[in-house]
Amino acid sequence: MRLHMAGRSELRIIRMKDSHLPEVFSLIDNENWGWEFAEIQQIYGLDQGSSVVALDGRDIVGLVTCIDFGSTAFIVHVIVRKGWRGKGVGVRMIETVLADLDSRGVSSVELHANPEAVEFYNQFSFKRLEDITFFAKDAPHSFPEPSAPSESSFSWLSPDDAPALSEALSTVFGYKKEDVEKALSKTPPHQALARIVSGRATAMFLSRTGRDLNAAGPWFMDEPTRAEADGMIRTMLSAVPAKRVDVLSPASNEVAKATFESCGFSVAKAGIVRVARSNSAANRYPGSVLSLGHLGLI
Ligand SMILES: CC(C)(COP(=O)(O)OP(=O)(O)OC[C@H]1O[C@@H](n2cnc3c(N)ncnc32)[C@H](O)[C@@H]1OP(=O)(O)O)[C@@H](O)C(=O)NCCC(=O)NCCS
Repeated sequence: MRLHMAGRSELRIIRMKDSHLPEVFSLIDNENWGWEFAEIQQIYGLDQGSSVVALDGRDIVGLVTCIDFGSTAFIVHVIVRKGWRGKGVGVRMIETVLADLDSRGVSSVELHANPEAVEFYNQFSFKRLEDITFFAKDAPHSFPEPSAPSESSFSWLSPDDAPALSEALSTVFGYKKEDVEKALSKTPPHQALARIVSGRATAMFLSRTGRDLNAAGPWFMDEPTRAEADGMIRTMLSAVPAKRVDVLSPASNEVAKATFESCGFSVAKAGIVRVARSNSAANRYPGSVLSLGHLGLI
């Protein structure tokens, strides 16, 4: 846990605390990735034991935010303060977090790596799974053309019904049902839209509203078509507050890409790479996955 650096005071890697959050947020905000303070609080609220900070005296010079969902963990932010980069701080923080997750038997760790940093994760046995595109759309969310005929096939579910929401999501996304259910009970979405056929969800779309944004996803649809995807996203957009909407979508999903673009989304960042370090085979998302959760699983 301790790192000695020539010419500097001793650097300590310690568990992130509540009192660190404002400074942690300020470091994240400096990167201009569009995160809100409330989301950092949400990450910390989901898991108060897995995130770390690197301290030089009392100053935070690095951070890793991480949510241990149970069998899968998701690393959300990895940042070393400018001036401290390239001195081994990032490696020490990731090693600390991974050792901790390993000791708890977490079998798979995922993250969305920035294109500029993706190779940093090779040294920890993370493997590239797929490319992810970050799309964003500003309000208002109205459409000049008439609404798609399929809109009526979707219905709103109770956002608090974690068992119902997690059932289908976990199967499609390949995560353990208990993990998804636990996460959704701790932080329910604000909107939950589904298409139910014979009692089974064949499509589902969750969304969360923050101070300035709606984080849209996860979203899946069995055998998605443009018309159905268009109808579903319009129904969702008609219900979210008039704020920016952010989505993370597997880059290989052409239906998702065409749907987001036709609804006024544009690419905020391309070439994000989903990487995983896993005991078992972590898989690419199937073609039914149109967008992911902001916090990995949810
Ligand atoms: C990426 C980041 C966290 C790495 O932390 P760091 O403390 O600078 O990295 P370290 O000094 O521990 O790096 C150790 C090794 O990783 C390699 N490495 C560091 N940054 C890298 C990068 N961006 N891409 C590829 N390899 C990288 C180094 O070459 C070094 O290897 P070496 O010792 O053989 O030369 C840091 O540079 C950072 O905060 N960048 C801006 C924010 C960011 O992009 N975060 C990642 C989000 S996914």
